[in-house]
Amino acid sequence: MIISFIGGGAMCEAILKGILSAKSANNTDITIAEPNNDRRLKLEKQYGINTTSSNVEALQNKADIVVLSIKPQVLSIVLNEIKGVLSPEQLLLSIVAGAKLDTLIKVTNHESVIRVMPNTPAQIGSGVSVWTATPRVNKRNKEMTANLLKPLGIEIYVKDESLIDMSTALSGSGPAYVFAFIESLIEAGVKLGMPQELSSELVIHTVLGSAKMLDETGIDPSELRKLVTSPGGTTAAALLKLEEEELGQALIKAVQAAYERSIELGKL
Ligand SMILES: NC(=O)c1ccc[n+]([C@@H]2O[C@H](COP(=O)([O-])OP(=O)(O)OC[C@H]3O[C@@H](n4cnc5c(N)ncnc54)[C@H](OP(=O)(O)O)[C@@H]3O)[C@@H](O)[C@H]2O)c1
Repeated sequence: MIISFIGGGAMCEAILKGILSAKSANNTDITIAEPNNDRRLKLEKQYGINTTSSNVEALQNKADIVVLSIKPQVLSIVLNEIKGVLSPEQLLLSIVAGAKLDTLIKVTNHESVIRVMPNTPAQIGSGVSVWTATPRVNKRNKEMTANLLKPLGIEIYVKDESLIDMSTALSGSGPAYVFAFIESLIEAGVKLGMPQELSSELVIHTVLGSAKMLDETGIDPSELRKLVTSPGGTTAAALLKLEEEELGQALIKAVQAAYERSIELGKL
């Protein structure tokens, strides 16, 4: 599989790590177009892939898949640059938050397009990628996309594109919410007088274990929460405080804000 990335930032690197560790493609078959010279040198040195400062050049290496991994703010410029350069058999795969399939097709005049919303745990094979495709994407390219995404964690195909914008706000930005939650819990341990390192270890493994328990048992989170909450106990005291401080409402509002921003960023 020959892959080109346009934009060699954080998410490109996360996907790249996943691809290389799963050996889905050889490093010499990967090209990254990236304007920043230092960044190009770093990527070349660390991963042995090819880089270029020219987005057009990155498309001309007979890439099977061209991954758009740029920020929404430069999407319009980049789409106009690559317009007419993509060959009909190349698959354009966008991870750009908010960018609609319709927009990608209209601006590039290219109809084989896939939209994916990955997240950063992809770099350790524990990501979530939600994706959809235009009707012109053939079976082979859909299979190639699933094979590309599988080593990055779980991959979920959805027919309805609006679910991608929702996923952006939930799983795309989600790791940041979890990191913020973990940060606060660690701080809470330190405030009680616990050494930072111990608090950190306890919190990370509590979050890991709880997520694993949910995944493996398939039991509803509210059920598991009730199981660890005895009336008048320590957990009940903590949960009452969380309710008073409206943690649940704050999270709902945060996801809504991310969703609205994703829709806004998608307007070229
Ligand atoms: N980060 C996440 O967790 C996440 C999750 C899901 C989806 N996404 C999506 O993934 C995309 C990339 O996000 P990111 O976090 O990887 O951003 P990022 O780290 O800022 O990467 C974007 C890269 O594109 C480069 N770039 C800027 N202008 C360019 C141009 N005209 N042509 C080619 N490359 C150009 C940037 O270089 P300079 O730094 O020199 O400008 C940067 O290296 C976004 O659309 C985002 O919505 C991100």
